[in-house]
Amino acid sequence: MKDKREFEIFVNTLEKEGELGKVSLAKILTSEKTDSLYSAADRVRKKFVGDGVHLRGLIEFSSYCGNNCFYCGLRAANSKVKRYRMQPDEIIQCAAHAVKFGLKTVVLQSGEDKSFGVNELCKIVNRIKSMDVAVTLSIGELSRNEYSLLKNAGADRYLLRIETSNKKLYEKLHPGMSHENRLRCLYNLKELGYETGTGCLIGLPGQTIEMLAEDLLLFKKLGVDMIGIGPFIPCRGTPLEYEKGGNVETVLKMMALARLLMRDINMPATTALSIKDSDGHRKGLCCGANVVMPNMGRTEYKKLYKIYPGKGEGLINSKNHVDDIKSKIISLGRKIGQGYGNRNKI
Ligand code: 5AD
Ligand code: SF4
Repeated sequence: MKDKREFEIFVNTLEKEGELGKVSLAKILTSEKTDSLYSAADRVRKKFVGDGVHLRGLIEFSSYCGNNCFYCGLRAANSKVKRYRMQPDEIIQCAAHAVKFGLKTVVLQSGEDKSFGVNELCKIVNRIKSMDVAVTLSIGELSRNEYSLLKNAGADRYLLRIETSNKKLYEKLHPGMSHENRLRCLYNLKELGYETGTGCLIGLPGQTIEMLAEDLLLFKKLGVDMIGIGPFIPCRGTPLEYEKGGNVETVLKMMALARLLMRDINMPATTALSIKDSDGHRKGLCCGANVVMPNMGRTEYKKLYKIYPGKGEGLINSKNHVDDIKSKIISLGRKIGQGYGNRNKI
């Protein structure tokens, strides 16, 4: 941006009012200046959700998926990946392990694995709820009735990224899926009383800065409670294998803007960000994030849940994964979030 003052005016408006139009958002996203944006997001994070960083224990319970998202290593057509499906008892054991570590939220994530019936999932949710934790589901597109049954079984939250707000790009990258149905799911989840999370990928081929600004405005319009923003990381065995992938600064700018536009949301420093940049967790936490999602699955499965390369390797597999994350949080002068970490509960 030529005019430095214009940038500062936009950031000030955002910090004071929590509102900004598409053209101004796009200007911020193209600017190379970031310091004042990041510090404004950090101030707003502190003011609205405090210093606590909530830990959500992630369990990736099945790597089977019937979809063919162009970017994802778990897409159905990728015959190179070895698939696994955890038994209900194994899932419960992992959840109990997360609880032992003091985590107050369990996130159950999988590909769209139709062989898990909704009744079976309800039983699992119900058993985990008896451990006195919040349960988040991230298992893709279902019918309103299925969402309702899972809610009644005790599920508290649901994550379903819109991935991109641009209908044309969405449908190009998600064969056989529709943008309308994705939105229908998000509206259903909200109506049913789930704390609802969405988000997008940064750096998809064909994605423009204007589309990113539109993503932010859509999140705000939907009034979601959680937002996950991560870099697209090209993955072998997918149609996007040779593409460039997302840029860390763009991810951080999007996170900072999300925090400024939707002040009291819960927002993770994503695993993809920490894989793209070894300092990604710290950077994310300083640009508006207040959540980290340690992987609480079993080592042999973590390695197989290859939505993108690098997942389930290195630090993520360390025995002290949770302790490492906790020390990182403390070293930033932040605290470990207490309680379930619902929206608006500092
Ligand atoms: N790079 C980064 N994130 C990815 N996801 C899927 N594939 C990739 C990839 N190659 C993300 C999607 C999905 C979430 C569970 O993982 O945004 O919603
Ligand atoms: Fe399946 Fe999710 Fe991967 Fe799409 S992103 S192919 S729905 S696991």
